[in-house]
Amino acid sequence: MRKGILAVATAGVVALGGLAACGKSNSPSGGSSAGGKQPYIGVILPDSKSSARWETADRQYLEKAFKDAGVKYDIQNAQGDKNAFQTIADQMLTKGVNVLVIVNLDSGTGKAVLAKAKAQGVATIDYDRLTLDGAADYYVSFDNVKVGELQGKGLQKCLTDMNVSKPTVAELNGSPTDNNATLFAQGYNSVLDPLYSGGTYVKGPNQSVPDWDNAKAGTIFEQMLTSAPTIKGVLVANDGMANSVISVLKKNSLNGKIPVTGQDATLQGLQHILDGDQCVTVYKAIKLEAKATSDLAVALAKGSNPSTSQTVKDPTSGKDVKAVLETPVAIYKDNVKDVVADKYVTKDELCAGAYAAKCTAAGIS
Ligand code: BGC
Repeated sequence: MRKGILAVATAGVVALGGLAACGKSNSPSGGSSAGGKQPYIGVILPDSKSSARWETADRQYLEKAFKDAGVKYDIQNAQGDKNAFQTIADQMLTKGVNVLVIVNLDSGTGKAVLAKAKAQGVATIDYDRLTLDGAADYYVSFDNVKVGELQGKGLQKCLTDMNVSKPTVAELNGSPTDNNATLFAQGYNSVLDPLYSGGTYVKGPNQSVPDWDNAKAGTIFEQMLTSAPTIKGVLVANDGMANSVISVLKKNSLNGKIPVTGQDATLQGLQHILDGDQCVTVYKAIKLEAKATSDLAVALAKGSNPSTSQTVKDPTSGKDVKAVLETPVAIYKDNVKDVVADKYVTKDELCAGAYAAKCTAAGIS
C-alpha cells in the first residue's frame, strides 16, 4: 500500500442560492498555461449520507490534489437531490468551469448534465460512478468488480473462520441506480453463487437498497431477519448500511455472531471491525482516485487529451471509456493498521476511549 498525506482541513460550508447544497471554492493566483485555458475544475459530489466518504475523504483529497496542482476549483455536494445536482452543474457552467467532474445520482440526470457540459465545450470526468450512456471523456474509479469479489471472499473467510456450516446468507445490495452497485454484486455473486448452487451455502433474502439509504437498509434487514431467522451471514455492500444491520443484530443480541461485510473503511466501519461486530470492509485509497482525477482534469483544461492505460466498456452504449481504475484492499481486524499507516484515518480518532485497548490488541501503535 502506498503512503500518502491526509488533508486534515475540514470542509468549508458555503450557502448556495437557497439550495440544500454545500461546497467550497478556491481561486489560487497561479496556474495559467501556455496554449490551453487556465484550469477551473468543478466537482459535484452526490450526498453526505449514503457514505461518510464523500465529505470526509473525497472532498479533502480532491481539495489537496487541486491545491497541490495550483488550480482553481469548486466542489459542491448535491445532498442526494437530483434537481440540486442539475442546478449546481448549470451554475458551475455559468461560472466558467472548463472541466466538470461528477458523481452521478443516477445515470439519467448524470447524462443530461454531461451533455450540457459537452455542448459548451467543457471536458467531463465520471468520478467513481460510471454514467451509463453518458459518454464522459474519462472515468476514474476503482476496480469495482474486484471490490465485490473481496466482499464475497471476505464473507466466506469469516464464515469458515467461525466454523459455520451451511449458512443462510442474506444480501443487501447498493442502489439499483448506481452502476457500481451492479459491479459490486457481480463481484460478490461470482463468489457466492457457486456456493449456493453447490449446496455449501443457502441463498437467503436478497434486496437492493434505494439510494444506498442507510436507515432503509436497517428496516429492510429487520424484515429479512424476521422472515428468515436462520440467517448466518450478511453480505452488505457498504459500511453505512452495515452499521444499520449491526444495530439490528445488536437489538437481537446477534452482533459478533453473524459476520457482516462492508466497504469504504469508514471510521465507524473500522471500529465495528475492532469490536468484532463487522468482519471485513474494503479500503479504497481515495487519495489515489482524487489525484488521478486532478491530473486528468488539469491536462484536459490545458487542452491536452491524456491517454490512460485502461478503458471500461459502457454496457449501455457499448462504447469504450478511457479509465483509471485503482485497486481495492480487503481489511480485517489484523490489517486495520494498514489503513492507519496509509493515513486514511488517524490513530487518535480510531483509538479514542474504549478503542484504545482494542487498537493495541490489533497491533495499531
Ligand atoms: C461508492 C461507494 C459508496 C456508495 C454509497 C458507491 O458508488 O463506490 O464507495 O459507499 O456509492 O455512497
